[in-house]
Amino acid sequence: MELQVGNESEIRSWKEVQLVYSSALKQIATKIEILNDEFQHVHLYNPIEHVKKRIKTSESIVKKLKSHGYDPTIENMVKYVNDIAGIRVICSFTSDIYRIAEMISKQSDIKVVAVKDYILNPKSSGYRSYHMVVLLPVYLSDRIVETKVEMQIRTVAMDFWASLEHKIQYKFEGNAPAHINTELMECARMVAELDSRMRQLNEEIQALSEMSVNEYPT
Ligand code: GTP
Ligand code: MG
Repeated sequence: MELQVGNESEIRSWKEVQLVYSSALKQIATKIEILNDEFQHVHLYNPIEHVKKRIKTSESIVKKLKSHGYDPTIENMVKYVNDIAGIRVICSFTSDIYRIAEMISKQSDIKVVAVKDYILNPKSSGYRSYHMVVLLPVYLSDRIVETKVEMQIRTVAMDFWASLEHKIQYKFEGNAPAHINTELMECARMVAELDSRMRQLNEEIQALSEMSVNEYPT
């Protein structure tokens, strides 16, 4: 499958589209890195474990457009596909997810166009994660292109679950046996509980380290 490219100028623009999305990804990754560095400096800890970024392949873009009934044109992909540029931010604790999301949303060059909080409202699969689609300006030589980036912010545990679930759904082409789906749901429940207990433990430790030695409970 290939993108519909009628003439040379459109071929140029597909290359340009890729360049713009990868520039937007670099910018958002730098923003995340700066926030992490500053957090380390001020609060003496790193809220971010790691970051993964990717540009969707033209094959998957075409597949997605076709599945939604759109012609595979460059215009349609820019308009209808929100996750051409995707960044996944893996945090230590659930509280870090909301902190990162808020800090990114408040930046004046960023516009949040969509938020899906699958932590507050998990998917029926058990999937949990915080999704944001943001627009940010990419400065080219002669113009500014407002570019969409999909952000998925999740904990290490949520990421562990999502990658196994993704592998399973891929293997069974979305029709996994019922007992596997039930087991995945149970694992999702355990992941949510683990995230909650780890967060409480971390908060307790942080409160203790903020107290003076005399105030330590014995
Ligand atoms: P897509 O068409 O898949 O992009 O879904 P959408 O436009 O409805 O957006 P949504 O926010 O629901 O999902 C976007 C992305 O989140 C997906 O491409 C996956 O990377 C991830 N995701 C969503 N649901 C699940 C799930 O049930 N399991 C796993 N492993 N990942 C999921
Ligand atoms: Mg997607």
